[in-house]
Amino acid sequence: MCGIVGYIGEQQAFPILIKGLHRLEYRGYDSAGVSLINSKGELSVYKAKGKVVNLEEGTKDKDTTGTIGIAHTRWATHGEPNATNAHPHFSQSKNLSLVHNGIIENYKSLRAEMEKNGMTFCSETDTEVLVQLVEYMMNTHKCDLYTAVQLALKNVVGAYAIAILEKSHPDQLVCARKGSPLIIGVGKSDNGRAEFYVGSDATPIIEYTNQVIYLQDEEIAIMDRTGRLDITNLANVKQTPQLVTLQMNLDQLEKGGFPHFMLKEIWEQPNALRTCIRGRVNMVDKDVLLSGIIDHKDKFINCRRIIICACGTSWHSALIGKYFIEEAAKIPVEVEYASEFRYRNPVINPDDIVIAVSQSGETADTLAAIQLAKEKGAFLYGICNVIGSSIPRATDSGTYLHVGPEIGVASTKAFTGQVITLGLLGLAIAKVKKTLSDDIFHMLVEELEQIPDKMQWTLEHNKDIAQFAQMFTYCKNFIYLGRGYNYPVALEGALKLKEISYIHAEGYPAAEMKHGPIALIDEEMPVVVIAPKRGMYEKVVSNIQEIKSRKGKIISVVTEGDTVVRGMSDYSFVIPDTRDCFVPLLAVIPLQLLSYYVAIAKGRNVDQPRNLAKSVTVE
Ligand code: G6P
Repeated sequence: MCGIVGYIGEQQAFPILIKGLHRLEYRGYDSAGVSLINSKGELSVYKAKGKVVNLEEGTKDKDTTGTIGIAHTRWATHGEPNATNAHPHFSQSKNLSLVHNGIIENYKSLRAEMEKNGMTFCSETDTEVLVQLVEYMMNTHKCDLYTAVQLALKNVVGAYAIAILEKSHPDQLVCARKGSPLIIGVGKSDNGRAEFYVGSDATPIIEYTNQVIYLQDEEIAIMDRTGRLDITNLANVKQTPQLVTLQMNLDQLEKGGFPHFMLKEIWEQPNALRTCIRGRVNMVDKDVLLSGIIDHKDKFINCRRIIICACGTSWHSALIGKYFIEEAAKIPVEVEYASEFRYRNPVINPDDIVIAVSQSGETADTLAAIQLAKEKGAFLYGICNVIGSSIPRATDSGTYLHVGPEIGVASTKAFTGQVITLGLLGLAIAKVKKTLSDDIFHMLVEELEQIPDKMQWTLEHNKDIAQFAQMFTYCKNFIYLGRGYNYPVALEGALKLKEISYIHAEGYPAAEMKHGPIALIDEEMPVVVIAPKRGMYEKVVSNIQEIKSRKGKIISVVTEGDTVVRGMSDYSFVIPDTRDCFVPLLAVIPLQLLSYYVAIAKGRNVDQPRNLAKSVTVE
C-alpha cells in the first residue's frame, strides 16, 4: 500500500531509488515519483502515472543527479491515480518535498485551516496537506525541519510513514512513522563515509546493507552524511536506535528464471514449507516444538477460546486453522475478518487468546484488531511472514512462517506456510493440553513432515494445467466447491482466480449449492470441486451428480488412483493421498496453477493485478 524509498550518502541516489521502487512495486503501482537535490542545491520532483517504468521513461532527458533523494510508488487512496496526485509532493514554497504511505484522516480540516491562512494546494491528496503543514509549522514557529515535523505530526490523525527533503538543507534526510512501516538501513559507502537508506520494507535496502533499524510508531529520525542518526518521539524524548541484522538474501527477491514471481512462489512451496517446519518437527521423537507455545504453556492450557483475526487469503488459512485446532486441541476457535472485528465491540475475555494471521504483518485492520484485543486483556499471538513487522512486535508471542519474501500480489506460499504453521500450532497446543493420544499425535506429525514431498509430487503431476487453462479464458464465472477442510480451499481457489484473471468466481461449501447457487449452473458454468478420497467423499460425489445433471462442467481435484470422480469430471487434477486436515496444502496447488495459467492466457499482469496491493496498510 504505497512504497517509500530514500537515500542519503555519497552515491548517485536515482538508480538506488528506482531499483528500490521496482522492489516495492508490489505495494502499489498506480503512479510513481522521485525527488532529488542535485549538487547545485536544486530540489526536483518527477512523477508519472502508472508503473515505475513510466517514471524511468519520463526522466530520461531530465537532471536526475544528486546524492540525496526520496521516491514513492502509489496505491491511490485520496485522489485519482494521475501525475498530479502522485508523490512526492512539494510544499508551497517548493522548499520541501515529501513522500507518504498511510492516510491522514483529518486532512480536510487541516487543509481548510491552512487555506484560511492563504495557502494554496495543487492536488486532492492528504499527503500534500501534510507537507504544507510541515512548512506552515516552520514558518509560524520559526523552527527547523525536524521540530516542524514533530509539531505537524502532533496535529495529525491517521497513519503515516514519511520521508522529507529540504532544499535549504541538502545534507539531511528526515523520516517518521506511525501505523505504516518504515525501516532505516545503515551503510557505508566505498570511501567509508556513512550512508542511510529508507524503505517501507527491507527489499530496497538489503542489496546495500543488512544493518537496519525498525522505526517505531511516533518516532522521527534525522540522518546526515556525517553518520548522525538521531531518533526522538513526538514528545521529543531521545530514543536509542536498535540495530538489527537482516536475515534475507538478494536471490529471494529475484525471479530466478521464472517468468513471474507468482509462478516462482508456487514452485517454491515444497522448499518453503521444509524451511517452515525445520527445527519445529523432530522426526526422531515424532514431536513438535514451538517455542511460542512452550514459553506460554499455561496460557494455552487455561485458554477458553481462540479468536483468529485476519484478512484476505490469511482469513482462508485461519479457517483451516480453526478446523484443525478444534479437532486436535479441543479449544473453540472463532475466525473473524479483522476489519469487522475491530469495529463491532466484540466480547473478549482475559482467558481468550487472539491470534493474528498475516503474511505482511502490516495489514492495518489486523493490527487494529489485535490492538483492540490487547486493550481488552487478551493474550496476543502472531503468525506472520515478514520478520520485524508491526504485528509480531505488537503481540505477546508468535511463530514466523519462514517461507521467504513473497512478492507476487496473489498470495501462494504464504497461504500454505500459514496452513502448515497453524497445523504445528494445533499440534503444539494438543501436546500441552494432552488432547490427542500418542499414536494419533505421532501419526499426524509423520504425515505433516511428508507434506513438502507430496507438494513436489503435486507440482510435477499437474504440469499440463498450462494447456488446459486456455479453454477457460472465455468464462465469465466459476464456482468452487469443497466440504470440511476443503471449503476454505474453495474460497481460496475462487479468490486466486478473481484476483489475477478478473473472472468472477465464488467459493461455497459444497452442500450449500442447493440453497441458491445451483440456480446458476448451466453448460457455461465451470464448477471446480475439491473431492479427495477422504472424509466426505461420498457426499461430494452426490454434489457432483447434482451439478452434472444440470450440465455444469466439472473440474475436480482428486486423489491419485481415484476413478469415480475422475470418470464424472470433464477435467481432473491429481494429488497424493494425505490426512483430511492436510489435504488443503496439496489441493490448493492445482487451483493456484489454474488461476495463474488462466490469467496468463488472458494476458493479465499476474504479479501486479489491477487495483490490488500486497500489503494493505490503510483501512
Ligand atoms: C491483501 C493481499 C492479499 C492478502 C491480504 C492480507 O489483500 O493482496 O494477498 O491475503 O492483503 O494480507 P496479510 O499481509 O495480512 O496476510
